[in-house]
Amino acid sequence: MSFPSVRMRRLRTTTALREIISEVELNPRDLVYPIFVDEKAKNPIPIKSMPSYYRLPLNQVVNEARQILEQGVKSIILFGVPSKKDDAGSEAFADNGVVQRAIRNLKKEFGDELVVISDVCLCEYTSHGHCGIAKNGKIQNDSTLEVLQKVAVSQANAGADIVAPSAMMDGQVQLIREGLDDAGFDQTAILAYSAKFASSFYHPFREAVESTPQFGNRKTYQLNYRNAREALREMELDINEGADILMVKPAIAYLDIIHAAKAKFNIPLAAYNVSGEYAMLKAAAQNGWIDEKIAICEILSGIKRAGADLIITYLAKDVKSWLSST
Ligand code: PBG
Repeated sequence: MSFPSVRMRRLRTTTALREIISEVELNPRDLVYPIFVDEKAKNPIPIKSMPSYYRLPLNQVVNEARQILEQGVKSIILFGVPSKKDDAGSEAFADNGVVQRAIRNLKKEFGDELVVISDVCLCEYTSHGHCGIAKNGKIQNDSTLEVLQKVAVSQANAGADIVAPSAMMDGQVQLIREGLDDAGFDQTAILAYSAKFASSFYHPFREAVESTPQFGNRKTYQLNYRNAREALREMELDINEGADILMVKPAIAYLDIIHAAKAKFNIPLAAYNVSGEYAMLKAAAQNGWIDEKIAICEILSGIKRAGADLIITYLAKDVKSWLSST
């Protein structure tokens, strides 16, 4: 059967008709809100390239999380900006590190009501800004693994529900799983940044947490953006190493990877709608070049339609204000 008996426009006639045949629906509980906690900050510090987004002092993190929960969002992911950085990134696994303290405060206040995810990486903590230990200008894989293991255990010990390794070192999920199990944290889950591409869209984040590499770039560990098969192989390896949830990052330019991963693997899938994607949206909206609320819904619905179960996004904080625009 075809035209004129088939008329696709019939089901687009009214808002209610369009609603009842919608294939995906955004829900606040699909979203994860990133929080940057800054050990030196006394007040929220605005980030120039991320309008309406701030680095927070430790004593405001609980309040921020409360506002997130009020929006129906159930999870946050923490990033730390330590007051001192060194070559070994040692503040990343300090028991009284800024992230560890933030996790303790959040768990004390909200218990199981809030899912606390913590980023496991060294780039915010190393003086050179790389995600691993550097030797003669090269990022060392295996010696970095031991440090990442310590970071994950210290965060689990502080009470994190999920640790999220993002350094893109080979074997990181396996070593972290072993480290957690040996320390008695067999219930702490791993959200693996498995398909993390070397991307221009991290630029605002690096400005925000002062993690721009001081030499070279991240292309010796993050994925080449031309490669989809390699990304799927990374994801398969992480499943075998014990990941509980996989991630694709960034999201908008990588919807094909999200889609392929969803079809191939039976494991929850997250997508990170990164800082540069947020910056583009905000910049266009501020210029009046797009309708912000509708654009947000379109972008996040697209990421969900591609197959993401969870979306990490800086837009999660005011989800109620734009959700009605779908
Ligand atoms: C690495 C890390 C990065 C982001 C999250 N974790 C940046 C990088 O690889 O430079 C980027 C997040 C964003 O851009 O929103 N620890």
